[in-house]
Amino acid sequence: MNPAALPVGVFDSGVGGLTVLNALVGALPAESFVYLGDTARLPYGTKSPDTVIRYATRAAERLVERGIKALVVACNTASAAALPALRERFAGLPVIGVVEPGARSACEQSRTGRIAVLATESTVAGGAYQRAIHALRPDAQITALPCQLFVALAEEGWVSGEVAQAVARRYLQPLLSRPEAAPDTLVLGCTHFPVLAPVLAGVVGPAVQIVDASGAVALALRELLSQKKLGVGEAGGRPRLELLATDGVERFARVGATFLGRPIRPQDVVLVDL
Ligand code: DGL
Repeated sequence: MNPAALPVGVFDSGVGGLTVLNALVGALPAESFVYLGDTARLPYGTKSPDTVIRYATRAAERLVERGIKALVVACNTASAAALPALRERFAGLPVIGVVEPGARSACEQSRTGRIAVLATESTVAGGAYQRAIHALRPDAQITALPCQLFVALAEEGWVSGEVAQAVARRYLQPLLSRPEAAPDTLVLGCTHFPVLAPVLAGVVGPAVQIVDASGAVALALRELLSQKKLGVGEAGGRPRLELLATDGVERFARVGATFLGRPIRPQDVVLVDL
């Protein structure tokens, strides 16, 4: 089979990566995608790096077995902990993570260099965002805040209202308590968080820009496919979108619709085991 006709594989621990998938489909409408949400093992963000590497490798293997031409790790936690391991394990397969594009977007947007990163416990503790931002902007002053409960709120669909606001205010307190050191840019370092952007904007106010990686990831994928001559062109026929989950297809369909930005029918989600 012509490799260009194969789909692009995308995975996350749950429905969060659908925010990235949404951007990928928007930027590359002729491409086919297969998305795996590892809902049985969610959250990844509280797990140790070794466990995240093991889960991410298994999820990627599942997609590779089905036949993919490139892999997008649509999970910051897995990108931060497992990108080198995935690139080594699947040598020859182009693999894109979300941390570097997220860091790049933040650096491009920030005027003052004061950048706040909101991410899972694991991503913050591993320091991958801090390193990626400093590599691009050595003078950046970074405040990295673990906001693990946002993952549960997002998976529950509680992305507005008083509970979401109270949790956001609590997590963002370190930014609110010293207005003179306030960041001008807030980077959403977890693919579950973009659905909470309106609540976060309400808490930090209009002077702070909120950025996420999905647009930059879509550009990176387009660039990569064209460089490797893997763009679908005439090869693919009608673009396909396959959705896989490791648990709870109905929940995945119901909650995932908000993240993907369009309805998902439970019968269109395939249950897989890793
Ligand atoms: N969506 C994932 C991320 O971008 C992680 C959520 C989780 O499983 O904790 O980090």
